[in-house]
Amino acid sequence: MDQPGKVRTNQLVNEIVIRELIESDLPLLEWDGQYSHYRRLYLDAYHQTLDDRAVMWVATSEINEMIGQVFVQLNSHQIDLADGFYRAYMLGFRVKPEYRNQGIGTLLLLNAEKDLMARHFQKVCLNVVKTNWRAQKLYERHDYRVIFADPGEWSYQDNIGVWHDVKEPAWRMEKSLVASHPIQHSK
Ligand SMILES: CC(C)(COP(=O)(O)OP(=O)(O)OC[C@H]1O[C@@H](n2cnc3c(N)ncnc32)[C@H](O)[C@@H]1OP(=O)(O)O)[C@@H](O)C(=O)NCCC(=O)NCCS
Repeated sequence: MDQPGKVRTNQLVNEIVIRELIESDLPLLEWDGQYSHYRRLYLDAYHQTLDDRAVMWVATSEINEMIGQVFVQLNSHQIDLADGFYRAYMLGFRVKPEYRNQGIGTLLLLNAEKDLMARHFQKVCLNVVKTNWRAQKLYERHDYRVIFADPGEWSYQDNIGVWHDVKEPAWRMEKSLVASHPIQHSK
């Protein structure tokens, strides 16, 4: 039997709702303060969803507890990341620790890919910090391949307006969303 605060069983996966984020979800992305410093980034990403430049996927429980998320940049000034029609960039992939290793991250990933395929995108890419080998393995299991090393340098303004420079050397990984058909040889 589940006890409060204990890791739930796999049964939870059946109770997960994966849907697009709505404005009232924004505070829930902060996970009780742990990610408050990203408040402006989340708001900016939300604004980008309003004109189809981004999609924000969330996994919630039946009582609307925020469990996980993945964001997809469809269009960006950095066209090597997202160009609006061919290549999209996945970021902000996160599942709350007590819900990990139950397949929820995989559900989020597959859902985001399915949506991109429906939008006729052909490639999805992401950055994974070089030391995050567990996440890298997860991506490799789902056919993402390292294409180059990225310095992982970026900046953000936190919730109180202070700028932070981040340096997280990463692997750029990429996956083709187009099924490859083996060449048929006639007999
Ligand atoms: C990566 C993450 C979203 C996966 O979510 P999940 O619900 O646990 O995923 P699934 O249950 O579908 O798959 C489990 C796999 O995730 C990976 N994983 C598990 N815990 C992890 C952790 N703490 N950090 C990174 N990857 C982890 C592993 O590959 C694991 O399988 P394995 O341990 O058997 O090799 C989740 O672990 C997480 O939020 N990690 C911290 C944030 C992060 O690293 N995000 C990726 C940024 S590129």
